[in-house]
Amino acid sequence: MSVRHFLTLLDLTPDELGYLIQRAIELKTMLRNGQRHEPLRGKTLGMIFEKASTRTRVSFEVGMTQFGGSSIFLSPRDTQLGRGEPIEDSARVMSRMVDAVMIRTFAHSAVETFAQHSKVPVINALTDDYHPCQLLADMQTFVEHRGSIQGKRVVWVGDGNNMCNSYINAARQFDFQLVVACPEGFDPRADLLAANSDRVELVRDTAAAVRGAHLVVTDVWASMGQEEEQARRAEAFADYQVSPSLMDLADPQALFMHCLPAHRGEEISHDMLDDPRAVVWDEAENRLHAQKALLEFLLR
Ligand code: CP
Ligand code: NVA
Repeated sequence: MSVRHFLTLLDLTPDELGYLIQRAIELKTMLRNGQRHEPLRGKTLGMIFEKASTRTRVSFEVGMTQFGGSSIFLSPRDTQLGRGEPIEDSARVMSRMVDAVMIRTFAHSAVETFAQHSKVPVINALTDDYHPCQLLADMQTFVEHRGSIQGKRVVWVGDGNNMCNSYINAARQFDFQLVVACPEGFDPRADLLAANSDRVELVRDTAAAVRGAHLVVTDVWASMGQEEEQARRAEAFADYQVSPSLMDLADPQALFMHCLPAHRGEEISHDMLDDPRAVVWDEAENRLHAQKALLEFLLR
């Protein structure tokens, strides 16, 4: 069978994604029970980070260690990638040595190019366009707290960024309704909106969007690489802050998620993460379990 990659949520079928969520929950229980499980003994994950990371790096490294394997952290500063060695050549070389590669970079086309020339699975650990690993953790977190997300109303508040695009893909793959509330000029990818018009709605009014929501999600106003736009964005997004009072408009059982890192006083109020509806610490922890399920699946 040809090698499988995970560049977006569309690379796996809805059944496969559902399996990964259940497996992540199982792996979490096994870990809690102290049960040893080392399916990747002798295997190595190459981890290319062209942007900063806390959760992604720690969860992939710890996951590989728990699975009996190892990982190599590679930054452009210390590799030939940073000195202009073509992505194609790096992919050819690395994939002859490691068993899988995880990449966090800017242009989504870079992970596509890498995957085209890789003999081993390539995992997108965030690009300017998508963050599919985070969605695995988010879906696991919802299932753990509330059961199936199928048919639920999910509301994205804020920037139509990489996380938002991945939520659109998730709406399709996990079969939920998504409302995207974002200011004009910051919409998610038009091709994704067009392809999912049956389940994704774009609105400008946050309060109207959140009414009846089962899950409310937001993210930073300026993503990595957009640092100079911070001031302009802070102005454009002023009406897009998630707070406990905004959450009061949602369904009484609603949850709040944020992939983190968060900026209190910007996209969330200072007290949002202390609200019992916020499940962000479980969400962050689940990066570990969900990615272990993914690694096991891709490397089996
Ligand atoms: N949510 C997330 O990907 O966090 P890091 O940037 O810390 O990896
Ligand atoms: N949208 C954010 C997510 C960080 C995990 C960024 O790309 O910086």
